[in-house]
Amino acid sequence: MRKAGVIGHPIAHSKSPFIHGYWLQKYGIEGDYRTYDIAPDHLRAGVDELIKNGLRGFNVTLPHKQHIMELCTTLSDEAKSIGAVNTVTISDEGKLHGHNTDAYGFSQNLADTIPDINWSEQIATVIGAGGAARAVMQSLSQKSVTEIRITNRTKQSAENLASEYNARVIDWHQKNELITGTTLLVNTTSLGMKGQDDLDIDLSGLASRAIVYDIVYVPLHTSLLQQAEKLGFRIVTGIGMLLHQARPGFEVWFGQFPDVTEELEQIILTKK
Ligand code: ATR
Repeated sequence: MRKAGVIGHPIAHSKSPFIHGYWLQKYGIEGDYRTYDIAPDHLRAGVDELIKNGLRGFNVTLPHKQHIMELCTTLSDEAKSIGAVNTVTISDEGKLHGHNTDAYGFSQNLADTIPDINWSEQIATVIGAGGAARAVMQSLSQKSVTEIRITNRTKQSAENLASEYNARVIDWHQKNELITGTTLLVNTTSLGMKGQDDLDIDLSGLASRAIVYDIVYVPLHTSLLQQAEKLGFRIVTGIGMLLHQARPGFEVWFGQFPDVTEELEQIILTKK
């Protein structure tokens, strides 16, 4: 029986067991994927326990995405650049390899939704400068887009990311005017999420045929995406990023590269 799981604190809300459980069943693999609630003070002991229990690896969510790096013997380039790990593989010797699949999840979801996207012609504007924004910036820079712009309520965070990824900072209060010409707009903030304020932005200055991508997926069609649809832009919803980022882990732990399907999307969206 191949075993893997997800660590976090709290962890009950995680959708990962449903995603991996769906794939295990679909591909007829005898495997076990469950949540492990590990408090920050017990990270090392908790992970040692997982190694002892024979897990092949695990996903990592809040609040461990940074601290787990200290326990990893090796880190992938993406994990190093993003400065966080969301996927860990345990070697036969019990050593941890840390990887980050968020940038992959972001770009695969976009390529899946807009198959004819021409990356090198994109003028991308990223809204937000937190952990998710960092993965998005990493992905955009790997894809060699024409230009990256970034705007964030706290300007300093935007400036930090901008200097790392050679981006241009747009003032938060001038974003309506300064997003002009953007061909790919990405919201990485929690604005628009159920229970939060909406992202207050006017999309009319975007380039024609622009793509508007919201990584928020509850609700699936945020007010940002609704506005984009009304104005005739192409939209990308956030659920695919969650599903695609899970694929590389499943492949290394369970030996099958899994598909993201509409059926899986529907199942995950209806899970509370
Ligand atoms: P994540 O890892 O999901 O990106 P995070 O690192 O906490 O989470 O980042 C949250 C992002 O949402 C930040 O860009 C944050 O802006 P600040 O850097 O100014 O905090 C943004 N954000 C959250 N609530 C916001 C709000 N009410 N208005 C504007 N931006 C907000």
